[in-house]
Amino acid sequence: MEKKNIDWGSLGFGYVKTDFRYVSNFKDGKWDDGAIVTDDTITISECAGVLQYAQTVFEGLKAYTTEDGHIVTFRPDLNAERINNSAARLEIPVLPEGRFIDAVTKTVKANENVVPPYGSGATLYIRPYIFGVNPVIGVKPADEYQFRIFTTPVGPYFKGGAKPITIKVSDFDRAAPHGTGHIKAGLNYAMSLHAIVTAHHEGFDENMYLDPATRTKVEETGGANFLFVTKDGKVVTPKSDSILPSITRRSLVYVAKEYLGLEVEEREVLFSEVKDFAECGLCGTAAVISPVGKIVDHGNEICLPSGMQEMGPVTKKLYDTLTGIQMGRIEAPKGWIHVIE
Ligand code: PLP
Ligand code: COI
Repeated sequence: MEKKNIDWGSLGFGYVKTDFRYVSNFKDGKWDDGAIVTDDTITISECAGVLQYAQTVFEGLKAYTTEDGHIVTFRPDLNAERINNSAARLEIPVLPEGRFIDAVTKTVKANENVVPPYGSGATLYIRPYIFGVNPVIGVKPADEYQFRIFTTPVGPYFKGGAKPITIKVSDFDRAAPHGTGHIKAGLNYAMSLHAIVTAHHEGFDENMYLDPATRTKVEETGGANFLFVTKDGKVVTPKSDSILPSITRRSLVYVAKEYLGLEVEEREVLFSEVKDFAECGLCGTAAVISPVGKIVDHGNEICLPSGMQEMGPVTKKLYDTLTGIQMGRIEAPKGWIHVIE
């Protein structure tokens, strides 16, 4: 199949309309069969549940072209599980077994001409989402829903790719204790918009959110989990009930232990410890692993010893191993790679 004429290497993390998307509707208590369509617009009631009470959940995963020319996705079973966990928390009907992966597979296949070639530095970002469509005015869940998936070719999430970024400790909270921080609901991201605009105005790339109850522990950023490396080479990653269970982070924990023989601690991380770490990175589907060079807490600067020029050495090893697995250069653990074609 001939690829679209796109300058893959200059793509940032933005929306580029592609030819096909997937749509399935939930009505009268059941999901229909779903189909690939071309229309990128949606017509819904002015009073739709998603518009009035933000009843929507989403996912994010990528399709990669491997070294030997296959198109694959990475652990989509975990996205399938997570979207259903998110849906259940917002009283959205879950997807039937197998539907998510089938829909992702069909959508990627249909958009094969925009799956970036191997070695281009770009990937195809896949955005599945479910939202309430029928009128809802009293505060209650909708009765009708739409599940859609679109794709967009993307480059690095942060401008500059692997260049370390500077983040600030946010004065805002992203999630409440016992709230929705652990699910991928649009409302969590709406919550973070003022905080990210504020951070950008102040010259920072991202926010570090602390735990909302005590503001003493590291949680995550608006779109990625944290990974730290201690001065003696241990990987440390925050554990919290109010952060998103990142598939990238869970995979990196395995990679660190089983591929690189590193010690890993998944535990609460006090903000007061951060000044003692050697490396820091943000991990997620969009972020992959984006190195952090500096963390600023109300004017108090923490400069990571790995510096502002390049990724720290342990972060780099994790990055190379994970992307090597995703692009087929390194053998993947069983079940991690879903071959689309
Ligand atoms: N944390 C938040 C808030 C996110 O939006 C994401 C992105 O999906 C992640 C973490 C990383 O999760 P994953 O690695 O599953 O993409
Ligand atoms: C992802 O990594 O898939 C996300 O959803 C993060 C978002 C900030 C783009």
